[in-house]
Amino acid sequence: MSLLALPDNRFIDVNESFLRLFEFTREEVIGRTSLDIGLWSDPTAREGLLEKLRAGEPVRNVELTLRTKSGKTRHVIVAVETLSLGPHEAWLSAVVDITETKDLERRLLENERLAAMGRLTGYVAHEINTPLTNISLLAATAAKRSQDPEIVSRLEKINAQRRLIGSILQDLAGLTRPPPIQPVETDLRTIVDGSLEQMEPYLHEGVELRKEAGSPVVADVDPRRIQQVLVNLTKNALQATSNGTVTVAVEDRGDTVALVVHDTGPGMPPDVLEKLFQPFFTTKPKEQGTGLGLAFAKSVVNAHGGTIEVESELGQGTTFTVVLPKIPSPP
Ligand SMILES: Nc1ncnc2c1ncn2[C@@H]1O[C@H](COP(=O)(O)OP(=O)(O)O)[C@@H](O)[C@H]1O
Ligand SMILES: [Mg+2]
Repeated sequence: MSLLALPDNRFIDVNESFLRLFEFTREEVIGRTSLDIGLWSDPTAREGLLEKLRAGEPVRNVELTLRTKSGKTRHVIVAVETLSLGPHEAWLSAVVDITETKDLERRLLENERLAAMGRLTGYVAHEINTPLTNISLLAATAAKRSQDPEIVSRLEKINAQRRLIGSILQDLAGLTRPPPIQPVETDLRTIVDGSLEQMEPYLHEGVELRKEAGSPVVADVDPRRIQQVLVNLTKNALQATSNGTVTVAVEDRGDTVALVVHDTGPGMPPDVLEKLFQPFFTTKPKEQGTGLGLAFAKSVVNAHGGTIEVESELGQGTTFTVVLPKIPSPP
């Protein structure tokens, strides 16, 4: 709750939960305006609200995005009442924090989208599998009847292409269903080494690829899958960084282990950060990106009961942190 005096909109009083929500002390707020204390991430939203109030329109259940003292985003619902305080008017506003509800809503939507995609890819995979099986049967019988080694070898190539289509379909389906993981005791340093070996094609002038791995870091993970995750993260970092360093580190954190990929690249704007883990989201040209790398990484990490987090600042760089329990606890 807050009480603002008109006409200059300064805070006359705020209650404890207002201070807690926005991380201020009373002294920092009283006598100042909401603009002074940096409450508005979008000052035009403030103008809209003020216009309504000045026109005498009721403000009820208005959704706003505000900022705490430390810069955290808070989604809130606001209602404002005009009061007479002696000769002056004042606005009494009540703010309800719906940040967590919003996050939940977003996650539910994401899950729904994945589920819908799962149904679609399941259907497509099923329908395409029948003609694929026919292709391989026809190729096999044709190969048996032919004496011409050239034809036999081409039929084998047709079959290889068919297997490729099959595995693409499987990958797609694996994105929406958590992939089955086969955890074995693994020293994560071998995963780091294995991933770095695969980085050869992405190394380029001006970028240094560093490894930070000291003593053994052991956890029960699916080594093949986790290596694919690390390959995806490191590849992204190398692709993003035209000049600077990419560091891959492995850490023992007690009950968990962490794989950290840090780059000094361009960082990401908020609209990219928001969509990062969505399947098919990419900012890269067609030949370079499918937008599946991070979606895949997330589903593998989730299947281990771990988390994948990103910190990014424009012009500074990006850090992806994968935290895995030493003993997997699938969701
Ligand atoms: N280290 C990074 N620095 C900057 N942008 C990144 C980084 N990692 C990922 N991204 C952004 O996230 C998008 C999605 O990544 P990803 O899922 O791996 O798909 P893809 O690499 O095929 O585009 C990329 O297109 C890029 O815009
Ligand atoms: Mg990628």
